[in-house]
Amino acid sequence: MLSIKLLKWIAFILSLLPLIILILGIINFINLGPNIVEEVLHRTGNTSLNLLMIVLLIPLMAKHSLFRNFLILSRMLGLFSFFYAALHLSVYLFIDRSMSILSIQDDFISRPYILAGMIAFISIIPLALTSFRRAQIRLKELWKKIHQLIYLGTASAIIHYIWQMKIDLSIPMLYLVGFLIILELKKGFRAT
Ligand code: HEM
Repeated sequence: MLSIKLLKWIAFILSLLPLIILILGIINFINLGPNIVEEVLHRTGNTSLNLLMIVLLIPLMAKHSLFRNFLILSRMLGLFSFFYAALHLSVYLFIDRSMSILSIQDDFISRPYILAGMIAFISIIPLALTSFRRAQIRLKELWKKIHQLIYLGTASAIIHYIWQMKIDLSIPMLYLVGFLIILELKKGFRAT
């Protein structure tokens, strides 16, 4: 079994990899395609959602003794998910919309999936703010309740993804199926 320290390092480097790829793309070291802003939006959004799904999967995997150590990764991966979501939102506000209040207002009406993204982002803010050990000890039962917001955050992010797709819904639908399976498995584990 991997030592905890090594496991943490591997998770840290893998979580940082999408950011490194983005930076290399921005400085033109690798090709991110013709529309870099759109590519950065897509990559940060996908990475944030992938990490949310992994955080939901970890407690299920940890039921198996081989993956028990994975539980210590939840906090780091959750914080990385928040980091990529914040980057995603910043790219949208500051670069895609150039901080134009009118354009953002317009978008909320003409592209309602933005609202679902906003709900997803707001839902995971309390998780990031209370992710520290001291908050967990202080808040006790309330901490558990706050961290249930991950379900709202993930569900809204998947709706946000499905809603914006114009043609091929297969990938966001896979996320939805994965999310429903995770919920079903969690229910099963709670019942036993
Ligand atoms: C936890 C929060 C969020 C997550 C996990 C998330 C996730 C995603 C995902 C997976 C995509 C699709 C990427 C693809 O097509 O490959 C996406 C696209 C996008 N998101 Fe988000 N998102 C979040 C919050 C937001 C917020 C708050 C905004 C803006 C206020 C936003 C604006 C956008 C835009 C403009 C796109 C690109 C849509 C297009 O290509 O037309 N997202 N997001």
